[in-house]
Amino acid sequence: MKFPSNDIISLLDERLELNLAESTNKDLLLEEIWDESFSEGLKKLTLEYGTSQGNDELRELIGKKLQVDKNKIIITNGAAFGFFLSMLCTCELGEEVITVQPNFPPTMDLIEGLGFQKKLLKLSFENAYQLEEEDLFKIISEKTKLITLVSPLNPTGTIINRAKIERISNRLKIEYPKCKLLIDETYREATFGNNKEITTFSGLNNNIITVSSLSKCHGTPGLRIGWLYSDDVQLIKEAGIAKMNTLISNSVLDEFVAIQVIKKEAKIFKTRRIHAAKGLEFTKKWVKQNEKFISWNEPKAGALCCIKFKESTFNSEQLNTFYKLAKENGIQIANGEWFGESNRFFRLGFGYMKIEQLKITLDKLTRIITKIVG
Ligand SMILES: Cc1ncc(COP(=O)(O)O)c(C=O)c1O
Repeated sequence: MKFPSNDIISLLDERLELNLAESTNKDLLLEEIWDESFSEGLKKLTLEYGTSQGNDELRELIGKKLQVDKNKIIITNGAAFGFFLSMLCTCELGEEVITVQPNFPPTMDLIEGLGFQKKLLKLSFENAYQLEEEDLFKIISEKTKLITLVSPLNPTGTIINRAKIERISNRLKIEYPKCKLLIDETYREATFGNNKEITTFSGLNNNIITVSSLSKCHGTPGLRIGWLYSDDVQLIKEAGIAKMNTLISNSVLDEFVAIQVIKKEAKIFKTRRIHAAKGLEFTKKWVKQNEKFISWNEPKAGALCCIKFKESTFNSEQLNTFYKLAKENGIQIANGEWFGESNRFFRLGFGYMKIEQLKITLDKLTRIITKIVG
């Protein structure tokens, strides 16, 4: 088997009623973006092949968001396919990709799946999942062709400081000019309430690639629309050829809906950010209420965070009991092991459920925890 198996697949295939495991905001209903001209356009849509680089109007809208030239953007099947194209087009067999751990599992597993050498840079809970530049440069070699960093990070919701990314990319240009720096910005626009939006890293330096999508911040993961940006026109050209040879094009229906989603994004963001801010408030209170047993690093964006069971109060048998009882109570939990952490951690998504449901779920978790340690 090329890809290691990972139980995160259960998020797609076995959905429990109280879903605390999802990383997205609420899923969007088509009626939230429906209007007369959308309806008319949909009726008249020709179901032809799309183009290899992706719909022109869609790239124009994304280019405007990122303040970059639309010709430097390729539409992908989610951010996930942006990763696929970036790795495929920057690395040869025997070469290396570095990424961070914990991380979204497919990002780590794709490196091996494509047959490249994987190097993982461990980020720690104790260091608030912050990246140390020196640790990164200790593991880079002449064979490293791609470094993928994530901000905001899944599963932690922590972010990387802009000055740090700028220093890393400048240093790479001098010491490793053949190595690209990819930033996964999939959660960038998923901020809380009225918090300022995080600025994209697109265009910051010419060795930077960014990938993102409409999956998380817009709540449309089922559309499977994302994008890859690079200043390197040759890379964009090669990615377009690789896309044509694998997917041929994106679905024109998906692209048509994606255009409408972006046109209506101000409204979409507003409701989702208010919802995530409320979810965060409840989560904060819940962490405080259970602070004898758990701890966390408060997230900066993304409607997700990592919860740690304290060693002083939870032994490994109790951890197993926690996962078992959560499942028996209909609560879906994202085990830290999925992301390269231990099962002492779990990812808590506070943006997916209705607030009432989140409250019920967190209260149930408190009862489960009290029962185990009580
Ligand atoms: C950090 C991160 N990047 C990328 C993805 C892939 O998202 P998509 O392919 O739906 O855009 C995910 C999905 O969970 C993610 O968490």
